[in-house]
Amino acid sequence: MKILLLGSGGREHALAWKIAQSPKTEKLYIAPGNAGTSAVGENVNIKATDFSTLKAFALENSIDMIVVGPEDPLVQGIFDSFKEDESTRHIAIIGPTAKGAQLEGSKEFAKEFMQRHNIPTARYKSVTAQTLNEGLAFLETLEAPYVLKADGLCAGKGVLILPTLEEAQKELKEMLGGMFGNASATVVIEEFLSGIECSVFVLTDSRNYKVLPVAKDYKRIGEGDKGLNTGGMGSVTPVPFADDEFMEKVRTRIIEPTINGLLEENILYKGFIFLGLINVKGEPMVIEYNVRMGDPETESVMLRIQSDIVELFEGVHQMNLDTKSLILDPRTAACVMLVSGGYPESYEKGKVMTGLEQAAQTDSILFHAGTALKDGNIVTNGGRVIAVCSYGDTKEEALAKSYKVADMIDFEKKYFRRDIGFDL
Ligand code: AMP
Ligand code: GLY
Repeated sequence: MKILLLGSGGREHALAWKIAQSPKTEKLYIAPGNAGTSAVGENVNIKATDFSTLKAFALENSIDMIVVGPEDPLVQGIFDSFKEDESTRHIAIIGPTAKGAQLEGSKEFAKEFMQRHNIPTARYKSVTAQTLNEGLAFLETLEAPYVLKADGLCAGKGVLILPTLEEAQKELKEMLGGMFGNASATVVIEEFLSGIECSVFVLTDSRNYKVLPVAKDYKRIGEGDKGLNTGGMGSVTPVPFADDEFMEKVRTRIIEPTINGLLEENILYKGFIFLGLINVKGEPMVIEYNVRMGDPETESVMLRIQSDIVELFEGVHQMNLDTKSLILDPRTAACVMLVSGGYPESYEKGKVMTGLEQAAQTDSILFHAGTALKDGNIVTNGGRVIAVCSYGDTKEEALAKSYKVADMIDFEKKYFRRDIGFDL
């Protein structure tokens, strides 16, 4: 099969690495990709949201399947766009329709969907500038801290958690006044839930589903989960508290009602569902839906999938995922992200990276997130630079291997967290 993968981060390098291992993969292209993906496939310089150029490329190169990494093309309707066009209709798209992608594209849509299908989530109220007073009054019925979410996509920045009622009321006005542009024209106000979070990944063909390894990610820049939110500083799978009893609740109360709800509402969904869950005293509740894999969870989750992922994707496309097997590696996988000093605020790019050859001699696996090739050198090209992933019989063993390799790789102002997995 000829496969085109969309995206350019660590998630995409991990997906590309896994797809390239399949005997079914005849040729793998990544658009636009990064320095890491160019080692397992061929990068093509097309933006993941440039549908017309992607269509032309897909036809010229006889692409059979497109795997969509990030959310933007999904929310913008890549599935529908390819299916509406006679010439590209036959191409398998791994990702939901635009309507399905609203689970991530609109927090209000997601909350209403959960309410319709009795899926456990925080109490909420959705408001606009016209209903500001109702929003201010709803905040008064909640206890601190207060959660405000911009309805639309904000590259992970649209959620504010405020310690006092005064601050929450002030920020609500600012959000509705255009703090995140049109994305915060509607704001979801939520009750704050207290517990430990985990990421559950489901692959579905619209009827059948497989639950992929559960992971925990570490979003804050600082150790002890302090400081600014980032795109993710590391991940670990499995998650000990997501045991059989917890996962049975997740299956019956969340996964099955979600898949059945989509079916009932005639929303075609052939792709990944990422459930951001919180464990509230043993009871799983949904914090958010995403319609793609997580980053940096994918970097550790892919290590634990032994089955041929392309075969699973075929099952998604042909809607016979129930006939495919999902075999998991019982070991722990952990990933530590090396980032550029200053990230997630301003940082410099173009720093020459050393130690990559030595790191390649170890049994850790490197996934590039923000790198580029320049004058024969690999240089940093983003805030999140490279994910160091390792297996271990325990979390401690996997992390110790990743930290050893994290110390081998160097670039000016390298930073990483040394406490990934501390709360598990
Ligand atoms: P989201 O973009 O919806 O994942 O929100 C970003 C982060 O905010 C989540 O990963 C949680 O840590 C936190 N968060 C969101 N909603 C809530 C909530 N209702 N209660 C507690 N924390 C929340
Ligand atoms: N790691 C969280 C995300 O990908 O949104």
